Amino acid sequence: MTNQLFEPLTLKSGVTIKNRLYKGAMSEAMGTKELGPSEELIHVYHRWAQGGIGLALTGNVMVDSRYLGEPGNVVVEDSRHLDMLKRWAEAGKENGSQIWMQINHPGKQSPKSMTKEPIAPSAVAITGSAAGGFNPPREMTNEEIKETVQRFVTTATIAKEAGFTGVQIHGAHGYLVSQFLSPRDNRRTDEYGGSLDNRMRFLVEIYQGMREALGEDYPISLKINSTDFKEDSFTEEESTLVIKKMAELGMDLVEISGGDYEKPKMMSDGEVFFLDYAEKVSREVDMPIAVIGGFRKEESMVDAIEKTDVSMIGLARPLVLRPDLPNRLKNGTYREVVLPRLSTGIKALDAAIGGFAGLTYYEQQISRLGQGLPPQKHTNAWSPLFHLVKSHGPAALSPRRR
Ligand SMILES: Cc1cc2nc3c(=O)[nH]c(=O)nc-3n(C[C@H](O)[C@H](O)[C@H](O)COP(=O)(O)O)c2cc1C
Repeated sequence: MTNQLFEPLTLKSGVTIKNRLYKGAMSEAMGTKELGPSEELIHVYHRWAQGGIGLALTGNVMVDSRYLGEPGNVVVEDSRHLDMLKRWAEAGKENGSQIWMQINHPGKQSPKSMTKEPIAPSAVAITGSAAGGFNPPREMTNEEIKETVQRFVTTATIAKEAGFTGVQIHGAHGYLVSQFLSPRDNRRTDEYGGSLDNRMRFLVEIYQGMREALGEDYPISLKINSTDFKEDSFTEEESTLVIKKMAELGMDLVEISGGDYEKPKMMSDGEVFFLDYAEKVSREVDMPIAVIGGFRKEESMVDAIEKTDVSMIGLARPLVLRPDLPNRLKNGTYREVVLPRLSTGIKALDAAIGGFAGLTYYEQQISRLGQGLPPQKHTNAWSPLFHLVKSHGPAALSPRRR
């Protein structure tokens, strides 16, 4: 099939991505006990690269082993895992594909089972149905902010040394960078809080630190929320201003998503959730905009590329069920992926665990891909929950969303 989905895209840094399809970051929960990449994790990226994807974003890699987002995270703080990181990058580069490391700090979205006292821009606790799983955060000191900026830069530097072909700052979904951007989470009165310029300072310092360390010809991207979908929080207008600033500073690409643990809009069930906003922003900036969330139909992917200024289409869950989805699109054998509806068989329990069972289902399937097995399409929510407890112990049953 010859359509614009298979046209290459050249970024400001001079790097060319072979097509317009990328695998969105999915935390694989497959790190070793030493918090490094496992053999199975590397194997999954081999499968995605062979499946024809232009670019794979890794699941979020943490910058600080004291503050993890969930069990099974990979942490890159120094070069202790360099050999395995090199093999991970190699697998992701097979077949002319790109592999970028997504770099993250959870801030207050670090569950109780992981962190006794999480840190955040301000001491504002998570509310709503997810609240019980998290201890209230403590406000970061100015020194901790500077140290954390440096940690993002260090992780990115090691990613480049290991052979990853780019990096992405996770600035979406209510994690630390997104907490700094949001006036609801960030109540600081110093230079990191207050005006939007101050709230984006943390992100800007991370980006500038990375650019200086990595050079002009290395792709640096950002995943950002269109909005947090909450009152008095990060709005579309503010999101657009941040994106414009990043374009001005020379960023290569920005990926649009939305929501956080309180409002998990990034995991909605409908078709194509953030395209309207992505389309609008892409007309306003001279920088490629990528969009993720809900792409299932071939027509929606082709239309988004051919009829709007959006430059790349992200796929997450469909690529777990069909790792060779891009090849199928290319050779005309693609059939729409229908995601299974998971149920425990108990209505009240389904409501209580909500998207959580869904997440663990995808983790279970990613782990099967890593073992060289085909994904399993089932609708029984108990199976992924057992898988989770078996892999990481009962502590893993705490709420999370990415
Ligand atoms: C198992 C799982 C893990 C995820 N982990 C991350 C992550 O580490 N970082 C991130 O930015 N988004 C993460 N996401 C969100 C996806 O990147 C994507 O935004 C979302 O699934 C919507 O895309 P889709 O409809 O194609 O699945 C995760 C999603 C799933 C299903």
